[in-house]
Amino acid sequence: MQETFDLLIRHASIVDGTGAPRYAGDIGVRGDRIARIGDLAASRGAVEIDLAGRIAAPGFIDAHTHDDRLMLSSPDMAPKVSQGITTVVAGNCGISLAPMPRPIPQPVTPPLNLLDEEGGWFTFPTFASYIAKLREQPAATNCALLVGHTTLRVATVDDLGKPASPEQIGQMRALVREALEAGAIGVSTGLFYEPSVAAPCEEVIDVCGPLKEFDGIYCTHMRDEADRVIDSLEETFRVGREVGVPVVISHLKVVGEANKGRSKEALSFIEKNMANQPICVDCYPYTAGSTVLSADRAASSSRVIVSWSKALPEYAGQDLDAIAKKLGVSQEEAIRRLSPAGGIYFRLDEADVQTILKHDKVMIGSDGLPHDASPHPRLWGSFPRVLGHYGRLLGLFPLEMAIYKMTGLTAKNFGLKDRGVLREGAFADITLFDKDTVDEAATYEKPIAPARGIDTVIVNGVVVWGGGKPTGAHPGRVLAREAQAVEA
Ligand code: ZN
Ligand code: CU
Repeated sequence: MQETFDLLIRHASIVDGTGAPRYAGDIGVRGDRIARIGDLAASRGAVEIDLAGRIAAPGFIDAHTHDDRLMLSSPDMAPKVSQGITTVVAGNCGISLAPMPRPIPQPVTPPLNLLDEEGGWFTFPTFASYIAKLREQPAATNCALLVGHTTLRVATVDDLGKPASPEQIGQMRALVREALEAGAIGVSTGLFYEPSVAAPCEEVIDVCGPLKEFDGIYCTHMRDEADRVIDSLEETFRVGREVGVPVVISHLKVVGEANKGRSKEALSFIEKNMANQPICVDCYPYTAGSTVLSADRAASSSRVIVSWSKALPEYAGQDLDAIAKKLGVSQEEAIRRLSPAGGIYFRLDEADVQTILKHDKVMIGSDGLPHDASPHPRLWGSFPRVLGHYGRLLGLFPLEMAIYKMTGLTAKNFGLKDRGVLREGAFADITLFDKDTVDEAATYEKPIAPARGIDTVIVNGVVVWGGGKPTGAHPGRVLAREAQAVEA
């Protein structure tokens, strides 16, 4: 049978995102959907790509991002589409760009300054106004959006060192409801960060109250990822149980020398609880984390790289040790002079990272910080590093499993219907790559570099990355969550 398509991908090795073994076939795209998969030798496409046996996979879904502002300020989304990502989950770690119904404090309260140090982007009084802007000026990628509890606290609580009052909780609940009505898929918290440390579990449960009615999801950067990681997991599960919604544990890790090896304990505690309630987990594939620069985080790290500094921007990309020596001061004094600033902290154990990464329920999320002058390489490298370094070179998992952890599993967990799988009728979010060369090019020394081996990236049937650069097309959409109707 001869058919015509808008886009025809020939001679693909198809990894469909469900974990099933790859198979050979052609993919015909019409409009924003996959119209046909099979032997399409007799058919024609207005545009044709011959893969000659290279891989076609569902576009990758970045389960954990801070791309709230990037989608508006750099809609080409080069750090993301260059590594095959077609959908980002934004608003993580309690930090969302919207809503901000009153003027943001100056200087911008950390960690909200990770999105915008100046504060000029925190101007959406409602979540609906933020989503309207994303629809009016779409990005290259799709997005699913969380509303951040720390943003809500900064917007409503005057003394961040205290639990919110019943009245402030009422205001935050109203803002959560507004966000969910506008199209947010859930709430995130960052109970680890100063502005939310004083929030007891009861405050989180109250603020998240509206989630149940909207089939929303709860994502958390937990209170403690070090000595008290099990307590933090228990607190997270309690929120899920009491609110009656699925939880996502963001960037699961066990921090610090004293907790080396405890990834197994954390994972078995999670597995045990998975039997009773829906629990999802993401992680990034590196032994260093990155966030606001602080003395206590630096003290528990074997090495620190400064990723940005407002006061002394020329030191971005250099080791804190070396900066302190140059300035002739202690590390603490160097941090004081650099701040506000960001840091990359080496304080995870490689074996723990691998144990978490290869667990078959764990999704891949980059946690990239797109506005840092010298960002953690995870911003540009996470997904190809999983495929290349961890998959092909270290053999942590077969290609089909690696792809599942960045597509089908993620779509199922977040309720992204017809995404994350290659099948007839699904949206045409497709990444074409060479399995033998795909890998990160970004390093700690040279963190801004497009991945190797990613040929072409397609979002809603439109090519957004090809020939090593963004095409300038911005077909991204704001995705809804459909809790019930997702297969993978
Ligand atoms: Zn976080
Ligand atoms: Cu994060």
